[in-house]
Parts: sequence; C-alpha cells; structure tokens
Amino acid sequence: MRFDSTKRVLVTGGAGFLGSHLCERLLADGHDVVCVDNFFTGTRHNVAHLLEHPGFEILRHDVTFPLYIEVDEIYNLACPASPIHYQHDPVQTTKTSVHGAINMLGLAKRVGAKILQASTSEVYGDPEQHPQTEGYWGRVNPIGIRSCYDEGKRCAETLFFDYYRQNALRIKVARIFNTFGPRMHPNDGRVVSNFIMQALTGEDLTINGDGTQTRSFCYVDDLIDGLVRLMDSPDDFTGPVNLGSTYEFTMLELAEKIIALTGSSSKIGFRELPSDDPRQRQPDLTLARQVLGWGPSTPLDEGLQRTVEYFKAL
Ligand SMILES: NC(=O)c1ccc[n+]([C@@H]2O[C@H](COP(=O)([O-])OP(=O)(O)OC[C@H]3O[C@@H](n4cnc5c(N)ncnc54)[C@H](O)[C@@H]3O)[C@@H](O)[C@H]2O)c1
Repeated sequence: MRFDSTKRVLVTGGAGFLGSHLCERLLADGHDVVCVDNFFTGTRHNVAHLLEHPGFEILRHDVTFPLYIEVDEIYNLACPASPIHYQHDPVQTTKTSVHGAINMLGLAKRVGAKILQASTSEVYGDPEQHPQTEGYWGRVNPIGIRSCYDEGKRCAETLFFDYYRQNALRIKVARIFNTFGPRMHPNDGRVVSNFIMQALTGEDLTINGDGTQTRSFCYVDDLIDGLVRLMDSPDDFTGPVNLGSTYEFTMLELAEKIIALTGSSSKIGFRELPSDDPRQRQPDLTLARQVLGWGPSTPLDEGLQRTVEYFKAL
C-alpha cells in the first residue's frame, strides 16, 4: 500500500539502448522508476547518470522469472533486439519474449497496472504490403534464424491481447521500427552503429547485398516520446500502433552520409545478403498521427550527428 501520488513505473530492459532513454524521460516527467535488467545487452554504464536520482531504482532480474513488486505502469522492453544478440541464444530469446510477457502480464494483473509492450516491425516479416499498416498480418518465416525474435514478439502480442480480452487488462502495443541514437551497442551489428564504428576506425563500410534495400530510421528521443504518448493514451486505445520514421533511403545512401558526417577516409564494400533479410520496410504512421498526435521530428542528419558524437566519446 502506498500513500503518495507519484506514479511508480517499471521499465524492463531499462539498462538497454531504448530503456535507458525511457528511464531518463520518465524521471524527468517526475515519476519514480524501477529499472529491471539482466544486463545481457544493457549495461549499468547506460544508466550510471541516473543512479544518484532519488526516484531511480535498479534491479538485476531476468524477466523469464516472475517478479513481485508494486507498480502503476509497466513498459516491457526486455529482449535482445539486434540479430547478433538475439541469435546468440535463440531459445533464451523466445523465452524472454514469451515467458517475459507472461510474467509481466501476470504482474500487471496482480497489481492492476497498465502495461505496454515494445513490439517490433519484425512482426510484419518480409512484407508484401508497403508501407505497412497495423492491419497487415505479416509474412514471417516460422523456422528461420530470425524466427526466435519475430515469432517470440508475435506470440507476446497474442498474449497481450488475450489478457486484454480475458482479464480486461489495460494494454498498449507499440510496433517499433528501426531506431537509432546514442547508447546503441557499438558491436550489435545493426547498420547505423556498424557504419559509424567502421567509419570512425577507418575500416571499409560493409553493405549487405547491393545496398539498394531500404530502411527508415527514427531518432531515439522521438521514439521515446511516442511510447510515453501511447502509455498516456485513453484506456480504450490498445494499439498495435506503428512508431518509427517514414523517411526512407537505401543502405548505400546511409553509408555515404555517414562517411561524409565523420569525414572518414573509409570506402564501401559489399557482402552477401543474410537469409530472411527484408528488402524494404516502412511504417504507415496514420494511426500514430491520428490517435497520439505523434510523428518523428528530428532530422536524420541531426540524429546521426549526435550518435556519431556518442561513439566518438566511447
Ligand atoms: N532499437 C530498435 O530499433 C528496436 C526496434 C524494434 C523493437 N525494439 C524493441 O525495443 C526493446 C528495446 O530494444 P533496444 O534496442 O533498447 O535493445 P537493447 O538490447 O539495448 O535492450 C534490451 C534490454 O533488455 C535486457 N534483457 C534482455 N533479456 C532480458 C531478460 N531475460 N531479462 C531482463 N532483461 C533482459 C538487455 O540486457 C537490455 O538491457 C526490445 O524489446 C526490442 O525488441 C527495438
């Protein structure tokens, strides 16, 4: 039983890239934050600047095990997000998404908390629809090397909606598209961090395939704002809702941009496209704009510049 009116918010995966920015934002908004992480890909370093904050607590815990604490809201972000990390132990990846969702939904049910799931554009798989609307069911390979992540996240969405229908839980599902910014893991193999690290160390920038596949990238501060708006949206809005950027460009263009921004002498090299790598992915943001009044606003060059500064300081 608590007697003060401060909202206590649980962030699982809170020591990761997105989680650490979310913890920062929630503290700035005046909430108490409990950050839960098993430090698989996240680090204490990501939240070191928050440790002295009186509203901040950190707990080493694996979400595949139940957790008993009293909170008002839960942001469920725990899950390795880059292919290198989630393919390292695929069984644990599925467990994190599925058992993690069950444990966090169970907690939300017990304490009456509102709960948000960090889902992903990967639920659309290699899409036949472009851009992807939330009504599109996706085209996912259930037995490929990315399936532990894609299918784990799809099953987590299923669990969220079953708890919603069966237990009237207040749920929110965000489908996050590629996001970048400071505190990305330098060795996560994701294209932005990869290119920046290669450019800063003078290595050739390695492009998968011929570089004509496109992506859109959202800057982290914009994405976090979308998550907070979604959590604060009326209870009858559950999502799923796409959050990401619609500004689309090829991997070749991105490589050239990063070489220019870093002033690097690196060249561009090509290697084979990994299996199941989607050729094209872009969110339809109509729903996010209509219901959350949200859209990304940080220009790509500005976001890339801040990210380059972070990696330089590392
Ligand atoms: N960054 C993106 O572009 C992106 C895109 C789509 C979805 N997402 C989702 O957002 C969430 C955060 O992604 P991120 O980019 O910050 O990745 P990240 O790897 O930096 O963060 C994930 C965090 O979860 C923690 N974690 C992993 N397994 C855990 C477990 N079993 N118990 C407790 N903690 C655990 C990790 O240690 C890490 O701190 C993930 O759920 C991811 O699927 C991210």
